[in-house]
Amino acid sequence: MHQVMGQVVRNRELAAGLWHLIVEAPEIAARAEPGQFAMLRVASGLEPLLRRPLSFYRIARHYGWLEFVYKVVGRGTQILTTRAAGDRLDLLGPLGRGWDLLPGTRRIGIVGRGIGIAPLIGLAEAAVRRGIAVEAFLSAREPQALLGLDLLRELGCGLYLHTERGEYSGRCREVTEHLEEAFEEEKPDQLFVCGSRRLGQAVLDFSRRRGVRSQISLEERMACGLGACIGCVTEIRAEDGREYRRVCKEGPVFWVEEVAMLYDR
Ligand SMILES: Cc1cc2nc3c(=O)[nH]c(=O)nc-3n(C[C@H](O)[C@H](O)[C@H](O)COP(=O)(O)OP(=O)(O)OC[C@H]3O[C@@H](n4cnc5c(N)ncnc54)[C@H](O)[C@@H]3O)c2cc1C
Ligand code: FES
Repeated sequence: MHQVMGQVVRNRELAAGLWHLIVEAPEIAARAEPGQFAMLRVASGLEPLLRRPLSFYRIARHYGWLEFVYKVVGRGTQILTTRAAGDRLDLLGPLGRGWDLLPGTRRIGIVGRGIGIAPLIGLAEAAVRRGIAVEAFLSAREPQALLGLDLLRELGCGLYLHTERGEYSGRCREVTEHLEEAFEEEKPDQLFVCGSRRLGQAVLDFSRRRGVRSQISLEERMACGLGACIGCVTEIRAEDGREYRRVCKEGPVFWVEEVAMLYDR
């Protein structure tokens, strides 16, 4: 893990309230893996004091670049939109545990909703580089919020899209309905999900029924991001009851069958 002063390469709005940030930070890019995240200090002064966690959207190691896509939700992300090319940005990373592509995996599904699609894009790139076929099941309120579509198309991924409004609405109620259709004849080796508890539950159900190893990336409010404050715990199913794990340290990626809240309906 490194604390570095990165340099903003680009920071631009992709769609209403959705921004794409590229930061040059070669020390972190050299070690970062899809599914991990960085803690960003969004302002140089003391306010806001706490860093903000953002997942790696893409990792361009040869340029030393880290790419993030973030949604403006509060003060910290609002301040981040004011950062421009050439500005310095204090980053801590790479942090947490990323996705596991298991040996022998030949075909995967990524299942994401809204900003939860962000950490799945780097995974799709890494998988395709390893010769793994990727089917993407993506949903959002509106089509503009479906992240990474052009890139996924370029990578040759199968796309199953659902939006509440606009172009991709009305074909199904949930994008996970397409899982059965896409994997009817041959199940995927692994599924990866991020974006909502309901999606996580659908992936857990599918995975238990079809015997698929699946992972979820969880989001919890984080203060330190380093495992020190115990402010980000989630309940994990253990043999003799439930245990707590820190999302920033033992996660944010967990095996779906471990995550207690996916069983609480
Ligand atoms: C591991 C991880 C990866 C994430 N990756 C992304 C990403 O790629 N893109 C993206 O848009 N968002 C991501 N988030 C959510 C993002 O961190 C919050 O939206 C952001 O911190 C909000 O900050 P704010 O100051 O604008 O909002 P405020 O609500 O003003 O924040 C107040 C405090 O609450 C924390 N907080 C608020 N919402 C969240 C949240 N949902 N998760 C964690 N902490 C939160 C903030 O960090 C801050 O300390 C991720 C969260 C986690 C835990
Ligand atoms: S945020 Fe402090 S332990 Fe996870």
